[in-house]
Amino acid sequence: MRKFIVGNWKMNGTSADLGEMAEISAVARLHNSVDSALCIPATLIERAVAAVGAFPIGGQDCHMQNSGAHTGCVSAEMLSDAGAVLTIIGHSERRAAQHEQDSDIRAKAQAAKAAGLKAILCVGETLDEREAGMALEIVLGQVAHSLPDNAAGAWLSVAYEPVWAIGTGRVAEPADVADMHAAIRAALVGRFGAEGQKIRILYGGSMNGDNAAVLLAVPNVDGGLIGGASLTAAKFQPILAAAQASGE
Ligand code: PGA
Repeated sequence: MRKFIVGNWKMNGTSADLGEMAEISAVARLHNSVDSALCIPATLIERAVAAVGAFPIGGQDCHMQNSGAHTGCVSAEMLSDAGAVLTIIGHSERRAAQHEQDSDIRAKAQAAKAAGLKAILCVGETLDEREAGMALEIVLGQVAHSLPDNAAGAWLSVAYEPVWAIGTGRVAEPADVADMHAAIRAALVGRFGAEGQKIRILYGGSMNGDNAAVLLAVPNVDGGLIGGASLTAAKFQPILAAAQASGE
């Protein structure tokens, strides 16, 4: 399976950063055995698409409905209309701050699919949950309840992001990543049969140029969702290079 390296810019970026996005897309083109994309603020999607050529640009969330009385929200159709080809769904920052539930995330994934977008659907346990020995149960519950029944096929990837590893510099141990990704894979195969083998499972949480090679070598780690280290071409490039090398 080709590795999938996705940058998550979160609430960062203005028009002053379009040049950096173009740099990232230029670097990504040099790593042509890796699939990559940038998920950026909705305000920048249309201009970013114009700035990066054929490089995939995505959003970071979408509403489950196409239109209506939802002040401040952006629909999957709107993302697509702006030129996005993918979106993140169910990031832990939204699960926590916007109280998104698995059922919301499932509906958002279906809306993304209906709008023709690829989706990166995030799952992950908190530190308290891990320390209580509940990490597997929590994550497999999220996988079971937030993936829609039509998740099979190339349009959806799962991103395992332990909440305690996001933005902290604290990376999960490769052995723990291996256990979790194997458990997610087994759940996907249990539910979708052979098609479940084809759903990419990304790791996210403080992935950077120093640790990417080790993490991307873990079985069932099919790519990465990268926050801080996706903000500049200089930081993103070594991750793309590690992904490219892992496929050789
Ligand atoms: P990080 O963020 O790489 O800065 O830890 C990852 C994410 O939240 O997707």
